[in-house]
Amino acid sequence: MNRTLTQIFRAAAVALALASAPAFADDPVKIGFVVKQPEEPWFRDEWRFAEQAAKEKGFVLVKIGAENGDKVLNAIDNLKVQHAQGFIICAPDVKLGPSIVAKARINRLKLMTVDDRLVDGSGKPIEGVPYTGISAINIGKQVGQALAEQIKARGWNPAEVGALRVSFDQLPTARDRTDGAVEALIAGGLPKANIFNAPQAKSDTENAFNAASIAITQHPQFKHWVAFGMNDEAVLGAVRAAEGRGINAANMVGVGIGGSNSALNEFAKPQPTGFFGSILISPKRHGYDTSLQMYDWIKNGKEPPMITLTDGRLITRDNAGDIRKTMGL
Ligand code: GLA
Repeated sequence: MNRTLTQIFRAAAVALALASAPAFADDPVKIGFVVKQPEEPWFRDEWRFAEQAAKEKGFVLVKIGAENGDKVLNAIDNLKVQHAQGFIICAPDVKLGPSIVAKARINRLKLMTVDDRLVDGSGKPIEGVPYTGISAINIGKQVGQALAEQIKARGWNPAEVGALRVSFDQLPTARDRTDGAVEALIAGGLPKANIFNAPQAKSDTENAFNAASIAITQHPQFKHWVAFGMNDEAVLGAVRAAEGRGINAANMVGVGIGGSNSALNEFAKPQPTGFFGSILISPKRHGYDTSLQMYDWIKNGKEPPMITLTDGRLITRDNAGDIRKTMGL
């Protein structure tokens, strides 16, 4: 082979090697943050805190809303094309777990999950993927305790109180939250037979409203109602459904989970509604901390903890501002 040809071949080999290399060591860090419901205030807050981490550390954050499986898989491919090195995801369906893990692996992207823990084909959590979520059963118990306390404080006869469990049982964290609430309500003296399931087809306010309307209509014998669900949106649906049947703040107590704008807007109304309170959880720990962990993993090879479970505190219209401040929100 003459000299020029050898040089051409060498140059081509180098170009090929560079093109197929996963990332250059000095590539800017780029992190994807994929969420299932980008319109929900909780996820907006999570993104906002992830942005804060990006600004502080100087990495690029790519925010992607992925409401179904196709969008998730496309998002992962897109992230690769954009030379991201990793992503954090709250998937629209936790059963996508094995496909997400496989896709991340093929694209050599580091993977962390937030809020909803991925499960394998048999429904078991995928242990190998770092996860940050709320301590669902405990937070559910806090909801149930707050409701039981309100029943007592208002002097309601437990026999006359119906309870709505706005459920989304296909999602383990949702099931755990509502099961925790049921447990605490029963421990607080509410008869088990007074608790009714109102299954949401999708986890938003409209679907919760529909489910709760049916359940309330089916049980006209109750004077008072309490409601709980996987998040504030679920409980807001129940509160609106009760209002639709003339059951207002005097006879309705809903306690949600979240404490972001969905709850704050409700507290800001001039008159109290049946949406009594919410367990405030931390979008900062879920958005900022997870992004920093991913950054550290990419930049310094430091693996994130496998499981982080965050806690929450009851807020009501009287103390929401102060408690949000103490949680750095
Ligand atoms: C789930 C819910 C969200 C929020 C998060 C908190 O993803 O859908 O509304 O409650 O959990 O981890």
